[in-house]
Amino acid sequence: MRRIVFATNNDHKLYEIKKALNEKFEVVSLKEIGFNSEIPEDYETLQENAHQKAETVLDFLGEKFKGLVFADDTGLEVDALDGRPGVYSARYAGINCSFQDNVDKMLEEMTGIENRNAQFRTVIALVNHSSSNYFEGIVKGEILNSSQGNEGFGYDPIFSPNGFNESFAEMSIEAKNLISHRGMAVQKVVDFLIR
Ligand code: IMP
Repeated sequence: MRRIVFATNNDHKLYEIKKALNEKFEVVSLKEIGFNSEIPEDYETLQENAHQKAETVLDFLGEKFKGLVFADDTGLEVDALDGRPGVYSARYAGINCSFQDNVDKMLEEMTGIENRNAQFRTVIALVNHSSSNYFEGIVKGEILNSSQGNEGFGYDPIFSPNGFNESFAEMSIEAKNLISHRGMAVQKVVDFLIR
């Protein structure tokens, strides 16, 4: 089976991607390759950050590594906030903030706002030593008035995708992967690799 290194320190994302690529590719984690550092993401676009994450790990693996590395960067883009927090979604409530801090800040900032439309956007960078390719996934939905559900991570408890009555945090990983931003982008990666 083809192996792909996933450049993330987020165990929730790793689990989601392992489920999504199950049986098609073997997803190798940073722990498994012995990479234990923080991965920088200091750019102002999702694509540049995804590229930086994947390249950091590719450099670590060195010239002898002949396989593929991929990384994603995701932003929550809220219409009423002019697309914020976007590329700054991880540190929306401040540097080193928790998922809960971000959720609390979003609920507070959205208090009393009627237009709750928002979207998650993911860009995946898939790189090797000779090429880089990018894949985007978007899911539209709305910001709920309070947290719902205990699954998932990040902003999942306050995001409900269009056409569903529940939040991402009330869905199984399989159900979320079928419709989510990351699930869509991963499907494009699969189509690209097996074309
Ligand atoms: P990053 O791609 O890890 O930099 O994610 C940016 C921010 O969005 C972090 O706060 C994540 O927790 C959050 N995030 C990323 N993907 C998801 C998701 O699928 N659901 C909810 N929050 C997410």
